Amino acid sequence: MKRLGLILFTIIITTILSAQDIQLPKPTRTGGMPLMEALDARKSDRAFSDKELSDQTLSDLLWAAWGFNREDKRTAPSSRNRQEIDVYVSLQKGLYLYDAKNNVLKQISKEDIRSTTGVIQQLFVKNAPVNLIYVSNKNKITGKSEEDLIAATYANTGFISQNVYLFCASEGLNTVVRAMFDKEKLAKKMNLGKDQIVTLTQTVGYPK
Ligand SMILES: Cc1cc2nc3c(=O)[nH]c(=O)nc-3n(C[C@H](O)[C@H](O)[C@H](O)COP(=O)(O)O)c2cc1C
Repeated sequence: MKRLGLILFTIIITTILSAQDIQLPKPTRTGGMPLMEALDARKSDRAFSDKELSDQTLSDLLWAAWGFNREDKRTAPSSRNRQEIDVYVSLQKGLYLYDAKNNVLKQISKEDIRSTTGVIQQLFVKNAPVNLIYVSNKNKITGKSEEDLIAATYANTGFISQNVYLFCASEGLNTVVRAMFDKEKLAKKMNLGKDQIVTLTQTVGYPK
């Protein structure tokens, strides 16, 4: 009986996690810098070491950004609680989608698309270890004009981005949020659907 349970468990886990997905360790939901000190240290930086973030730091970063801090609600607010933003993570080893419920990075492709998340004038983008890509699923927002929808979804993105800024300040990481990138080119590279738009991108890494 025990053995059957173990086999079933293994089958379920392997089905949920395809080979290249990354199961992140549990996020650390305590500690960090006092809030006022993190606000005092918050800033944009544009020089990054190519040192990779550990899975634990990635997990903590993503939880701070847009994880669940209650059963079905998150660390950032969203207009009418539509939670329409997805956070994609562009690493050297590929492109991943943050599945906050399961704390998994789901592999979307094995391609290194970091350079496409920025512009040629911002060379740091392509070598920084992490570029977050905020994608709005516009079809999750209903009953708003296109103009109001765009305003709401950018506001929602801003809250997530500020969470990342504060986490980075607390952890001694560098970060900068970015609007300068070719939206169409990036959407194509990511294979996004017609109802998905990239709102902003954000680079994260250790100071150079
Ligand atoms: C919506 C938005 C878009 C931005 N886009 C870029 C960008 O494409 N490239 C960049 O280097 N910085 C970008 N920034 C960062 C700003 O330049 C930066 O926040 C500003 O200079 C103030 O510096 P601070 O963040 O250190 O206070 C952006 C900031 C925001 C809020």
